Amino acid sequence: MKLLYITAFLLLSHAAAAEVCKLTINATDQMRFEQQSLQVDGQCTEVEVTLHNLGNLPANVMGHDWVLTKTADVTSVANAGMEAGLANNYQPKGDKRIVAATTIIGGGESASVRFSTAQLEAGTSYSYFCSAPGHYSIMKGHFVYTPASASAVAKNESK
Ligand code: CO
Repeated sequence: MKLLYITAFLLLSHAAAAEVCKLTINATDQMRFEQQSLQVDGQCTEVEVTLHNLGNLPANVMGHDWVLTKTADVTSVANAGMEAGLANNYQPKGDKRIVAATTIIGGGESASVRFSTAQLEAGTSYSYFCSAPGHYSIMKGHFVYTPASASAVAKNESK
């Protein structure tokens, strides 16, 4: 009986464990992200994004970061970030519209950010961009989050 109890507990704790999904994105001196989109499914309770700046130029010349917001907020957050300056990673301080962001890094450097998918709203379009001045119009892509429940609902409806 005691053995059964322990087994059940282990199963439960496994189900509740965080599933950290790791993504990598590369930025270059040509002011580009190499990945046009990133995808995360509902099994991921947390996401860890690592940005590699593959260039050679320093952060004050061609620095890059990775900033995630709702697609609708990209332009306004990027503009506010320009005002914040390099000392604040070109990100408006404490801005709730930023879901996650790395620091600005220069060539040869890497930076990571880890965040919970619980704050992502199903059915909302999210995008990532680089907040260095003038970069976001080129350096951006879609962040596609597909909650596990979404496909289950679609399956039920198709029956
Ligand atoms: Co950039």
